[in-house]
Amino acid sequence: MPQDKFYITTPIYYVNDVPHIGHAYTTIAADVVARYKRLEGYEVFFLTGTDEHGQKVQQAANDLSVSPKEHVDKLHQRFKELWVRLNISNSDFIRTTEERHKKLVRNILQELHSKDEIYRDSYEGWYCTPCERFWTEKDLAQGNCPECQRKVEKIKEHNYFFRMGKYQEWLIDRIKNDPHFILPASRRNEVLGFLDKPLEDLCISRPKSRLPWGIPLPFDEEYVTYVWFDALINYISIHGSLDDIKASGFWPADHNMVGKDILTTHAVYWSTMLKAIGLEPPKNIFAHGWWTVNGQKMSKSLQNVVEPNQLIDKFGVDVIRYFLLREVPFGLDGDFSHKALIGRLNSDLANNLGNLLNRTVNMMKKYCGGIIPTPATAGPEDEPLTTKAGEVIAEVRKLYGELAYNKILQKIWELVDTTNQYIDKTGPWNLAKTDEGKERLKTVMYNSAESLRVLGVLLNPFMPTSTESLMKQLGVETSIEEQGMESLSKWGGLQAGSQTQKAKQLFPRIEDKQAEKILAELAAPKEDNIDSQITIDEFMKVELKTGKILEAEKVKKSKKLIQLKVDIGTETRQVLAGIAESYKPEDLVGRTVIIVANLKPAKLMGIESQGMVLAASNDGKILLAGFDQEPGQGIQVR
Ligand code: MSP
Repeated sequence: MPQDKFYITTPIYYVNDVPHIGHAYTTIAADVVARYKRLEGYEVFFLTGTDEHGQKVQQAANDLSVSPKEHVDKLHQRFKELWVRLNISNSDFIRTTEERHKKLVRNILQELHSKDEIYRDSYEGWYCTPCERFWTEKDLAQGNCPECQRKVEKIKEHNYFFRMGKYQEWLIDRIKNDPHFILPASRRNEVLGFLDKPLEDLCISRPKSRLPWGIPLPFDEEYVTYVWFDALINYISIHGSLDDIKASGFWPADHNMVGKDILTTHAVYWSTMLKAIGLEPPKNIFAHGWWTVNGQKMSKSLQNVVEPNQLIDKFGVDVIRYFLLREVPFGLDGDFSHKALIGRLNSDLANNLGNLLNRTVNMMKKYCGGIIPTPATAGPEDEPLTTKAGEVIAEVRKLYGELAYNKILQKIWELVDTTNQYIDKTGPWNLAKTDEGKERLKTVMYNSAESLRVLGVLLNPFMPTSTESLMKQLGVETSIEEQGMESLSKWGGLQAGSQTQKAKQLFPRIEDKQAEKILAELAAPKEDNIDSQITIDEFMKVELKTGKILEAEKVKKSKKLIQLKVDIGTETRQVLAGIAESYKPEDLVGRTVIIVANLKPAKLMGIESQGMVLAASNDGKILLAGFDQEPGQGIQVR
C-alpha cells in the first residue's frame, strides 16, 4: 500500500542573518512534527532553506567586496551547520539561488504574464530600501517606514504587477470556510481584518538598474523579481515543474509554518499566487509567536541575541529542543531566560523523567538481574497506569493536529508522574522481600519499563538523542523509528528477556553553583563566543598598508566596480573596489588609500582583485579611508 504523504515547511531564512533562537524555534517545531509523522508511518517531506536574493544581500556583498554569489555560498552554511547540530531531519535544503528554484520562478512568471495575471504599469510610492517594500502615503508612520521606522524615498517608476486584488473575495471565503487554514484563530482574524480594506495588486518587479541581485523577469530582462514573490515559490520549486508538483503528492503542503511577522505575505500573497497558478493553497499556515529576551526584541546592537550554538554547548541539544516547545504555547510570544531553561532542565528533565529512568534501570538490575521480566500477577494498582498511558497516547495524537506542543508535553509528563507514583505505591523494595511479592515485582518492573518505552516513543520527536539512549538503557534494540506509534497500539510492546544496560543520567542536574557560573559566563560573553570581538593577535593577522593609486578605470558592465592599480611600496597590485557610484576614476589617480594586502586574491566579474581598499559606507555613499598628511607608500597601518 502506498504510504500517505505529509509535507511540512519552515520559512526560508534570510541568509545574511546570524541564526538565533527565533530561527531555531520554527525549525525545531517543524522537525518535531516531521519526526512524529514518520513515526505514524507517513512518507514525510520536510523542507527548509535560505532566502538569498535582494537588496540586503547585495549590500552586504558590496561592503565585503565579494560577489553576492560568493557571499551567499558562504553564509548559507551557517544555517545548514546549525540544523545538523540541532538534529533537524529536513529532507532537502532549498536555496533561492539554485537553478531548480530559479527555473520554476521564471516559468511561473512567464505563465502568469501570458495569462495577463501580470501587467506593466507606472508606479509611484514610498520605498523603504532596507525592507525592499513600497508603502502608500497612508501606510507611513510619521513619514517613515511603518515596519522599520527608517527613512523612505518617493520613487516613480514602471513596474510589473500581479493581479492580486481580484482574488480578494475568493481568499476571504477560503479563510472563512476553512477554520484550519490559518491558525491560531486570533491570527486568522488579523488576516481577515487586513482583507477588510481593498486588496491592491502586488508589485512583483524591481528595476535591475536599482537592484541587480535577483531573478530576471523572463519577459523583461531589465527587471528582477521582487524577493518575496521569488522566495515564496521555494515551497514548490523543490518538487520540479508545475506538473511534477501536482504528481508528487506533496502539494498542498500540510503545514507552511511561519512566524507571526510573515503571516500576511503567506496568507495573502502566497495563497493568491497559488490560486493564479492553479494550485491549491496550503492546508494550513500556522503563525507562531516571537521570542524576546528580557522583554526586548533580539538585536545585535543590544547584544542580546541568544545563539543556539552557545546553548547547545552549555546545555545539550535535547534540552533546548524541549525547552523552546514546552515553555510557551505555540502561537503566543515568549520571553527567553537561561534561568527558566535551567529550571526546566532540573525539574522536568532531571528530577522527573531522568530520575524515573534511573531508578527503574537500577531496580531492574537489583531485583531482576538486569533482565526485563515476563509480567506475572496483575494487581489493581496496574490499571491506573495502563489507562493513563492509553489516554495520553490518544490525546497526544489529537494535539499534534493543533500543533499544541506545550500541551503535548504536559500530557506526556502526566504519564511520567503517574509512572513515578506507580513505583512509589507498589514499592518494589518491599515486594522484593517476600516470595509472593517477588512474583508481583515482575509485573511492576515490567510495567515501569514498558511505560518508559512508551515515553521514549512519544518523546522521540522532541528529544531524538536522549530517547534513543533511554531505549538502549532499557535493552530495546529496535530503533524508535522502526517501533513507530504503531508499537503503542497495545500495552506490552517491550520484549521480556531483554538485557538492560548500566543506568546513565540522561539529563545531569545543574546545581546552583554551576548554574551561577554558567549564567555569569553567558552574561559576559567571552571573546570566542561573540563574533564581533577578535583578539589583538587576530587583528594583527590583517596586513594593512598604504598604497598610491596609479591607474583607475571603470569595469565595463559593472555599475559599481572600479579597477585600480595601486603601488604598495614593494609591488603594484590590481585591486577592484565597489566605489564607482561615489568616485570618478580620474579623481582617484594619485590618492593614497589603505589596502588589505594579505587578502586571498578573488575574481570579480572575471577580473582578479589582489587586495581590498578600506572605505566607509553610509546609506549607499562611499568614502575612502585616508590620512590628513601624506604618509608615503607601503607603510604599515595599525
Ligand atoms: N526570508 C523571509 C521568509 C521567507 S519565506 C518564503 C524571512 N526570513 S527571516 O530570517 O527574517 O525570518 C524567518 C523566520 O524566523 C520567521 O518565521 C520569523 O518569524 C522567525 N523569527 C525571527 N526572529 C524571531 C524571534 N525572535 N522569535 C521567533 N521567531 C522569529 O522572514
